[in-house]
Amino acid sequence: MRLSIITISALVCLAGCSVQAPTGGPAQGAVTIGFIVKQPEELWFQHEWQYAQQCADQYGFKLIKMGAPDGEKVLSAIDSLAANKAQGFVICTPDVRLGPAIMAKAKTYGMKVFSVDDQFVGADGQFMDVPYMGISASQIGRQVGESLYAEFKKRNWPVEETAACAITFDELNTVKERTDGTFAALTEAGFPAERIYRGAEKITDVPAAFDAANIVLTQHPEVKRWIVFSVNEEGVLGAIRAMEGRGFTSENVIAIGIGAGIGFMEFEKTQPTGYFATAVISPKRHGFGTTELLYKWIKDSVEPPKDTRTKATIATRENYKQVKQDLGIE
Ligand code: GLA
Repeated sequence: MRLSIITISALVCLAGCSVQAPTGGPAQGAVTIGFIVKQPEELWFQHEWQYAQQCADQYGFKLIKMGAPDGEKVLSAIDSLAANKAQGFVICTPDVRLGPAIMAKAKTYGMKVFSVDDQFVGADGQFMDVPYMGISASQIGRQVGESLYAEFKKRNWPVEETAACAITFDELNTVKERTDGTFAALTEAGFPAERIYRGAEKITDVPAAFDAANIVLTQHPEVKRWIVFSVNEEGVLGAIRAMEGRGFTSENVIAIGIGAGIGFMEFEKTQPTGYFATAVISPKRHGFGTTELLYKWIKDSVEPPKDTRTKATIATRENYKQVKQDLGIE
């Protein structure tokens, strides 16, 4: 029997060729990944998206970016990702207690989940066993405290005229650990704990921090010089704006934030503000890094590490451009 050319090539193909997808359908092995964030208006999250997109462009997969400020929006975002044939998503959840609901929904669609920034908490109050990348929160908080104290000493401020304003949000572990770390470092260095005044913000953004700081300022009109710390750059910025409203300037405010966004914008102003330094964290590690790990998990079944903690570098007006360059962030 003579085999036709077509039959031969079909046999060869069975042995070694990859099968082509029918025209019009998704290409065989095509990967689609979602990236859901809790506060899309915050620069940190926009930068995470930007680096996640760089990852998608580099590896050639599709990235769907979504903002979800509450539980209902998170669950409908996951439905919509499923409709778009996504095999998984990276998420910074608007509420860590949504972890079990998010995992249950993802499971119904067979999707892989990678949590970023804010770690899921289970019904038992324990962190969930879901791959996570977050900042080394306590350690970074301590770096902030040490740098604040060093600058306070350098300026020779009399302690009896100085107080610290802490804008806190204790409902979320990764941010509570930051302000607790700063508190610990300040007091261990010798700053009196009773001169650290806390203002709890309702959400981690500038307007909420502005409101929280105004309460602290109203309660303490006697304070002449302020040290400021918070959970992120937004918290510190809100406090600085409240202080400016009462006549405080870079002369009598030392503030250090944690982030990689609006703090830099303060440094770009010709007139210095109370924003003295930023503990620079990397949206590239968090955006590109998480997306890359998830992609390899989907594509090549490479299990990602369960818990990754990233570091910070303190940057001031003087060296922030260099620090950005060293971290490869724009
Ligand atoms: C939390 C904060 C954000 C940002 C990230 C960094 O999600 O709300 O502002 O600091 O952590 O991991």
